[in-house]
Amino acid sequence: MCQDEIGFGVLGLGMGTHHALAVSEVPGVKLVAVCDQDPMRMQPTAEKYGCRGYLSFEEMLSDPEIQAVTVATESGKHAECALMAIAAGKHVLVEKPADVKVERIDEMIEAAKRAGVKVTSVFQSRTLPLNRCIKNAVDEGRFGKLVGVHALVPWYREQSYYEGPHGDWKGTWALDGGGSLANQGVHTVDLLQFLVGRVKSVFGAFGVYAHDVEAEDTTTALLKFENGALGTISTATSAYPGMATSVTILGWNGSVQKQDDVLHVWKFRDETEEDEEIRKRYGPGDKSHVGVSSDPNALGAYGHHGHIEDLAKCIREGCDPFITLESARHAVEIVNAIYESGRTGKEVFLS
Ligand SMILES: NC(=O)c1ccc[n+]([C@@H]2O[C@H](COP(=O)([O-])OP(=O)(O)OC[C@H]3O[C@@H](n4cnc5c(N)ncnc54)[C@H](O)[C@@H]3O)[C@@H](O)[C@H]2O)c1
Repeated sequence: MCQDEIGFGVLGLGMGTHHALAVSEVPGVKLVAVCDQDPMRMQPTAEKYGCRGYLSFEEMLSDPEIQAVTVATESGKHAECALMAIAAGKHVLVEKPADVKVERIDEMIEAAKRAGVKVTSVFQSRTLPLNRCIKNAVDEGRFGKLVGVHALVPWYREQSYYEGPHGDWKGTWALDGGGSLANQGVHTVDLLQFLVGRVKSVFGAFGVYAHDVEAEDTTTALLKFENGALGTISTATSAYPGMATSVTILGWNGSVQKQDDVLHVWKFRDETEEDEEIRKRYGPGDKSHVGVSSDPNALGAYGHHGHIEDLAKCIREGCDPFITLESARHAVEIVNAIYESGRTGKEVFLS
């Protein structure tokens, strides 16, 4: 290993296989080891990358060549594993959501500060060029007063997705934090708050419609943003055959609508030359497009490289990560508030 390379260990080899791939491809970092308690997952991945393989996370944490770990275990174990890594002096990239409980994310924030290590969370939608473009337009005030912020995540998962040794935690309250909203929809919940700002209160409803699953497979919520905009989000894993995720932002002076990464509306009163460029670049056309609406593995195929690069930069330069835990926690607050509202039938105000 070169002296200035940052050594990474990857924990949890479902989505973590995407982490291992990203670490193996990003310059300046090295995949030192992978870890999964399931040998059927650990051994082939360690062989594929020619790195060390551990069945025990504790053992991987005692590997002196590892400076940073990525955590891709069941979501309800994220904080537990990240806290172990922080206690061992490692920097951490934790999968989305940072944890299923806000208090546990706060514990991670405090522990990272005390230990002087960098901790960041995956929300790769924030890094996509079209989403950055929309964010810039919001920040420049081009929408005028925002009146509507709407998202639909009408995905589909077979019952088999919720079964088996690596499926039975999905759609459970303890380990997934919920269902279609906490697992699939949380990317879009985070994207909405990243694009337009914090949510003040929610009114939600959820249910189980098409699966044998504990928490929910269908959710709808009304969102009131701190800036006064009204919004909605609906998520499902029950909507056969699974359709594109759509996001619509409506303002007095302009509106934008996209489906997955394809732009359908980009229209502002103060039209600029760049607007036509943006419509051409991101509009429907001959795009090779990865659909995630019915394929659980598709979403992880991009975006993780940027997260690894960012964590490596923070470790080297001492700067804050692009996605701090403080900013990643709001999506979990929103998700949990929607569930609370669904249970109580009342509007829930966020702190
Ligand atoms: N960013 C994305 O687009 C994206 C996509 C899918 C999943 N995810 C997230 O990735 C995480 C993992 O999801 P998944 O579908 O890969 O789950 P999974 O159940 O397939 O994989 C989790 C793995 O972690 C291992 N594991 C758990 N605790 C362990 C421990 N203490 N020691 C060793 N191994 C341990 C399990 O054996 C399992 O192989 C979830 O938090 C999920 O939300 C993110």
